[in-house]
Amino acid sequence: MAAVAAMILAAGQGTRMKSALPKVLHPLLGQPMLFYPLRLLADLGIEQPVVVVGNGREAVEAAVGAAWPGAVFAWQRQQRGTADAAAAAMEKLAAFSGPVIILCGDVPLLRTATVAALLDRHRERQAAVTVLTAVLAEAGAYGRVVVDGAGELERIVEARDATAAELAINRINSGTYCVDAAFLRRVLAAIDCQNAQGEYYLTDMVAKAREAGLPVAWLDAGDPDEIQGINDRRQLARAEQVLAGRIREQWQLAGVSISFPDQVLIEPQVRIGQDTTIEMGVVLRGRTEIGRGCHLGVGAVLSDVRLADGVRIMPYSVLEGAEVEEGCQVGPFARLRPGTVLRREVKVGNFVEVKKAELGAGSKASHLSYLGDARIGRGVNIGAGTITCNYDGFNKYQTVIEDGVFVGSDTQFVAPVTIGRDALVGAGSTITKDVPANAVATTRSRQVVYRDRGMAYRTAKKEKE
Ligand code: UD1
Ligand code: CA
Repeated sequence: MAAVAAMILAAGQGTRMKSALPKVLHPLLGQPMLFYPLRLLADLGIEQPVVVVGNGREAVEAAVGAAWPGAVFAWQRQQRGTADAAAAAMEKLAAFSGPVIILCGDVPLLRTATVAALLDRHRERQAAVTVLTAVLAEAGAYGRVVVDGAGELERIVEARDATAAELAINRINSGTYCVDAAFLRRVLAAIDCQNAQGEYYLTDMVAKAREAGLPVAWLDAGDPDEIQGINDRRQLARAEQVLAGRIREQWQLAGVSISFPDQVLIEPQVRIGQDTTIEMGVVLRGRTEIGRGCHLGVGAVLSDVRLADGVRIMPYSVLEGAEVEEGCQVGPFARLRPGTVLRREVKVGNFVEVKKAELGAGSKASHLSYLGDARIGRGVNIGAGTITCNYDGFNKYQTVIEDGVFVGSDTQFVAPVTIGRDALVGAGSTITKDVPANAVATTRSRQVVYRDRGMAYRTAKKEKE
């Protein structure tokens, strides 16, 4: 198979987004819009696409460069139209011969298979240009595709230059093409800007190929959703819904149960094991990996989290950068922050916050605690209201609680401090010094009881007033 080159046109302004952020960097499911065509090309094995940048150039280059090190940038200094943008890209493909795929940076729903089919059609027909078209009920502002009596593509006319009869055509130009590099170089030099917008139209290459007697081909996208361009934030939100729906369906077909799926959001890089169930309002972000047979309760939000098999996340828990082993139970209303590691069968209950802390197998913190910068062994019971005081206003310190320790409720550990194996800490203690293994530590003052003094105390109070 001959090599294939590609360019993504992304220099346009995106005025209708009404934003300080360049249009192609607006995120869909946590990823800039422009990453979708980049991923499509990577799926086709094209690792060094040319990205045409202009508006917001520095921000676009920084974002793309960080995630797609192979990308090559072509700077279109002034946005004089799509043909001018393609000409900027061709400067970076000066030595290339073969087919060039042209995509737009603001068309994130396009599928890899569709572009692969376009390339196949281009090769079969040995065409100079092959255009991805679509049939729409409402052709709107898209360029119209004029086909002659023999079913051959004759030309593309922009909506603003079209006659009433041409506007009635409902086959449109998607803005995605496959073009022979040598032909593209020649034709770009010949395109002028004699049109309603005074722009250099890439679409003129079709009529020019016909004039030169070169074969032109076209292919209808099966699913018109795919070619949807994004110009404003309504279209952005709609496209995000379509993408989210595709991802949910993929996981449903892979054996994941999702109830009320419209209310569940799963980002593209998330992985989920079979027989996991997901309830409404769950959000899974970043590089989250979920094992088999897990249960994610209503409203759970997970970012960059690893769950092993059989983990239960109860409703309204928020987990970020945490690792959770087999059989753990978390929440409801728990918060696991980055650096949390829960070993097998750990239980973290409601209103418990954990940060940079490991809890050993079978340990429990069931209610109302903060465990930060801590190493907690196996089989430890953390009573309700336990706090690790890890910060003195200047530095953070570690709390170490060894295997088998029992911590009574409402205990503070003023770090750095170590509690030895099997020790017991009495409820309501403020622990400032290490506790040896197997010891009992308590810091409470002794309780004083005055018998039969309750009513007398009340009478004395009333008389004072
Ligand atoms: C273009 C097509 C139209 C098609 C539509 C599909 C032309 C003349 N028209 O119109 O037939 O139906 O796409 O969405 O090509 N860009 C640059 N530099 C420029 C101008 C544009 O990089 O100087 C980029 C834009 O960032 C965008 C893409 O090219 O990603 C398309 O440009 P846009 O202005 O949106 O073209 P349309 O008017 O929508
Ligand atoms: Ca436009």
